[in-house]
Amino acid sequence: MTQNKKKIVWITGGGTGIGKELAKNFSDRNFRVIVSGRRLKKLKDVQKYNKTNIIPISLDVSDHKKCKKVSDLILKKYKSIDIIVLNAATYSPGSLEKINVIEIKKIVETNILGPMNCFSPFLESMKKKRKGHLVFVSSPAGYRGLPGAGIYGVTKSAITFLAETLKLEYDPYNIKVQVVHPGFIKTPMTDKNTFDMPFIMSAKRAADIITKNIFSKKFDIYFPKRLILPMKLLQIIPFSIYSFLMRYFVKRKLNG
Ligand SMILES: NC(=O)c1ccc[n+]([C@@H]2O[C@H](COP(=O)([O-])OP(=O)(O)OC[C@H]3O[C@@H](n4cnc5c(N)ncnc54)[C@H](OP(=O)(O)O)[C@@H]3O)[C@@H](O)[C@H]2O)c1
Repeated sequence: MTQNKKKIVWITGGGTGIGKELAKNFSDRNFRVIVSGRRLKKLKDVQKYNKTNIIPISLDVSDHKKCKKVSDLILKKYKSIDIIVLNAATYSPGSLEKINVIEIKKIVETNILGPMNCFSPFLESMKKKRKGHLVFVSSPAGYRGLPGAGIYGVTKSAITFLAETLKLEYDPYNIKVQVVHPGFIKTPMTDKNTFDMPFIMSAKRAADIITKNIFSKKFDIYFPKRLILPMKLLQIIPFSIYSFLMRYFVKRKLNG
């Protein structure tokens, strides 16, 4: 296989956690893997895993102009892209009253506008070629209003909405859209949590499940099932019952 024939995947937030493990998996599958993030040092460390296949690019996904520039460079160099994994996000748990508007703006710009900044420049060419694949990393924290999920949950709810919308709009153009809802994964993001995280799994295990399913026909990739299936059930019950249950759990937690 010549160098240019390799499939291309771009993973945002590829310097740590789930993104880093995904980058390794795709490089094992002989993809050319573009990893982006703000900390070049982290990305260069990931590159050490496979110097030929992994390409680090320093990029803040909230920087619209830079995202367009990077996307145009990718298109110019490789003519098309096979998969974009929109994984970069920032996490700020806790009640909305504890967060100021400037922080909220930054989280929205990273978690909602960030993915849009990265995939939008490719849509026209994907449509024209009738070929493309977008993978959005969302979170079950956005399934329903959740005490403590704060602005993070709001942004993840938006990402799931966005993925569903794109799936419906771009199916006719053969553009594959998937959304990932992982449970608790041990990464720098969750290392700051002080509460119990049931069924927490390693980033490597999570990336293995995601990688396998990226090559499947599944739209919604969720795991571990024993955590997410009950959460999915909570999504379909009437809000009055849901709020009763939430109040009960919060009260029980507060009482120890
Ligand atoms: N861990 C979990 O339990 C869990 C559960 C559900 C969903 N998720 C989702 O999984 C994805 C990956 O998270 P993770 O757990 O692997 O956490 P992580 O290790 O903290 O990864 C997040 C990555 O996003 C990058 N990033 C953050 N802000 C950025 C920005 N403005 N521009 C560019 N890159 C940015 C970070 O790199 P830089 O700081 O270098 O930019 C980092 O590499 C996220 O979308 C997260 O919401 C995680």
